Amino acid sequence: MIGGGQLARMTHQAAIALGQTLRVLAASPEDPAAQVSPDVVIGAHTDADALARVAEGAAALTFDHEHVPTELLAALVDAGVNVAPPPQALIHAQDKVVMRRRLEELGAPIPRFAEVAEPSDVDAFAARIDGPIVVKTARGGYDGRGVTLAADLAEARAVTERYLADGTAVLLEERVDMRRELSALVARSPFGQGAAWPVVQSVQRDGICVEVIAPAPNLDDDLRGAAEQLGLRLAGELGVVGVLAVELFETVDGTLLVNELAMRPHNTGHWTMNGAVTSQFEQHLRAVLDYPLGATAPIAPVTVMANVLGAAHAPEMGMDERLHHLFARLPEAKVHLYGKSERPGRKIGHVNVLGAAGGSVDDAAYVAEVRERAVRAAHWLSHGEWTDGWDEHGA
Ligand SMILES: Nc1ncnc2c1ncn2[C@@H]1O[C@H](COP(=O)(O)OP(=O)(O)OP(=O)(O)O)[C@@H](O)[C@H]1O
Ligand SMILES: [Mg+2]
Repeated sequence: MIGGGQLARMTHQAAIALGQTLRVLAASPEDPAAQVSPDVVIGAHTDADALARVAEGAAALTFDHEHVPTELLAALVDAGVNVAPPPQALIHAQDKVVMRRRLEELGAPIPRFAEVAEPSDVDAFAARIDGPIVVKTARGGYDGRGVTLAADLAEARAVTERYLADGTAVLLEERVDMRRELSALVARSPFGQGAAWPVVQSVQRDGICVEVIAPAPNLDDDLRGAAEQLGLRLAGELGVVGVLAVELFETVDGTLLVNELAMRPHNTGHWTMNGAVTSQFEQHLRAVLDYPLGATAPIAPVTVMANVLGAAHAPEMGMDERLHHLFARLPEAKVHLYGKSERPGRKIGHVNVLGAAGGSVDDAAYVAEVRERAVRAAHWLSHGEWTDGWDEHGA
C-alpha cells in the first residue's frame, strides 16, 4: 500500500486476519502504518525507485491516498505491477476537473461547474450561476484544504488567482444549497462483483468530517436506492478495483449531487469496523486480491462514528489515561487510535458506538442518544473534558 497513514494502518489490521502482510511505502518510520507493519519501505510516493521497491513481488499495489503522479503509475503498470485501482480509474479521484467532466459524460448528477484558464473566467461563471461560488484546486486537496466557499465575487477572484499562482488547475462550482452530506460506499472486484454498504450521513465541520451516522436517518427509499445504484454503476463504468466512496450532497429540494470520489477506504466507512459484517478495510483487500466480496449488512439499527481530532491545546492528561477513564465510563465505545501525535484539528483516531437492538434509525431520540455517546467519547479523547461535566474521579 502506498502511503503509511491511518488507512494503511487499519488495512494492515484487516490483512492479518486474511493471512496476508501489508507492505507499506511510508514517508517516515513514525507514520501510523509504519509503526505496525513488519514490512516497511521508507520513501516518497513521488520517487519511482521507491515505488518499484515497494511493488517488487507484491500480489497487488494499492493506495491510502490518491497523490501518486499518473506517469509513475503508468510506468508501474508497464513493468507488470497489478495496480488496483488501475490508473485510468484512479485519475477520477486525483483530479476534480477530470472527475467532473467524466461524471457529466456519464449523466451522473453534479453541481454546475467550470474549468478556469484565467481569473476573468470567474466573472463569466458567476454571471451564469447567479449565486455563491466554490473555488477548488483540481488536485492535491484533502480535509477541505484547496476548497474555498467564497463569500463574494471579489473573494472568488482573489482565491482563484492565488490557486492559479500556485500552479494548480482550478475548478469553480455553484455552492450547493444542501440539506446534508451523504456517502455511498461500495466495493468492486476485478471479477466484476459489486457490494454496497448502506448509504450514510456525514457531518462536516470546517471542511473536515467529524461524525458519520450509519445508515443515514430518514432517507427517502428512492434516494437511498438511487445513491447505492449510482455508487455501483460508477464503480463499474470507471473500472474501479477496491473501495469507492461517492461523496454526495442531498439538496434542499431532495435530489442528489455527486461531490467527489475516493478510491480507497474512506472516513465515512470507518463505522464498518464495528457496525457491519465486513469492514471496508477487509473489503478493500478482498476486492484488490479478487476474492469474493464480504456481506455488507449492518449489525445494529444505527452505528455512529465520531472522529477524535487533535485539540487546540493537547490536554495534560496522557492519551493512555484518557482511554482508561473512557473505558470505565463507556465500556461499549470501540476506539481506534492511529498512533499520531496530537496536533490541532488532526485526525488521530475515531470512536464507534452501536445503537441497541430494537431501535430505529428513523427515531430521532434514539439516534440522538447514540450520537451523544459517540461524540462525548471522541471529545473526551481529544480534550480530556466531558461534554456533560462528569467528574471521572467523583463517581
Ligand atoms: N459545491 C459545493 N457546494 C457546497 N459545499 C461544498 C461544495 N463543494 C465542497 N463543499 C464543502 O466542502 C467540503 C470539502 O470539499 P471536497 O470534498 O471537494 O474537498 P476535499 O478537501 O477534497 O475533501 P476531503 O476532505 O473529503 O478530502 C465538502 O465536504 C462540503 O462540505
Ligand atoms: Mg471530500
